[in-house]
Amino acid sequence: MEVKAFLWKGDLLLLLDQRRLPEEEVWLEIRDHMDAAEAIRTMAVRGAPAIGCVAAYGYLLGIRRGHDPGEVRKTLERTRPTAYNLFYALDRMEKALREGKDLEEEAEAIEREDYEANLKMGELGNTLVPEEASVLTHCNTGALATAGWGTALGVIRSAHRSGKKVHVWVDETRPYLQGARLTCWELLKEGIPHTLITDSTAGFLMKSGRVDLVIVGADRITAKGDVANKIGTYTLSVLAKTHGVPFYVVAPSSTFDLSIESGKDIPIEERSGEEVKTCSGNPVAPEGTPAYHPAFDVTPAENVTAIITEKGIISPVTEDNIRRCLS
Ligand code: MRU
Repeated sequence: MEVKAFLWKGDLLLLLDQRRLPEEEVWLEIRDHMDAAEAIRTMAVRGAPAIGCVAAYGYLLGIRRGHDPGEVRKTLERTRPTAYNLFYALDRMEKALREGKDLEEEAEAIEREDYEANLKMGELGNTLVPEEASVLTHCNTGALATAGWGTALGVIRSAHRSGKKVHVWVDETRPYLQGARLTCWELLKEGIPHTLITDSTAGFLMKSGRVDLVIVGADRITAKGDVANKIGTYTLSVLAKTHGVPFYVVAPSSTFDLSIESGKDIPIEERSGEEVKTCSGNPVAPEGTPAYHPAFDVTPAENVTAIITEKGIISPVTEDNIRRCLS
């Protein structure tokens, strides 16, 4: 059965608790916007498009329970500042409310459109994948991070299903281990050959010619094509450039924030240093040591070979090409 991060049940949202994967599949019940906000903040659900969908259902539940619309929005948008899909979904829900539209239909449309965009990006992205390819990816960009199928992992899924011989190097993605825990779980379920590596192994592999392409997702993309994504993505882009390896970003149009020109204006979420000082709950550093934990970094447009969206492939990544593709 296809992996789902969340399931809308008409009066509540069921959410697969991603903090417990891969050991256990536990479903949480989301009954209002406060439950949804807590699940997003604590990373029970993560990945920009999935966050957007859960926020949309959270908004609907909050309004249905009679809460003030301004308060509902504020509670949801104060969770994770970098993921643009969160703001995209809340803008759509707010507009639907203002225009007297059916909020349930709007939330379902946001989910459906994301799923369809992923399928389309899979199809388009597959045209860039050779018949035999060693692909390196970071974080989790699969069905768990979206309404289904996935962005970067969706392209890998499409390539594998079309019969290509794809092998995936999976960055473990410290400190949350989205690569180790979630991407490997999805790849195993799909029967896609893969190997887990520490984040610091990527340069060694690229230097020895064992990576054909790097493919990642995005949390927010600016008008000129700077890309915020999981911390470590920028490092990969520099390595890819140095070693002549194509570096692809896969993201739906709902991840583009055209109101921001440059990556330096993207708000970067800073999480607790305590998350760096532990691994799966176990301490890995002395208690007195301070730690720094930016959750995202920004890759400049010039390091990106192409951005794959559901509306087309943008390459070279320039503001003109982005605006033309998205219009
Ligand atoms: O902190 P996370 O796990 O929410 O970060 C997720 C990522 O960085 C993904 O690459 C991004 O959201 C795109 S997911 C389709």
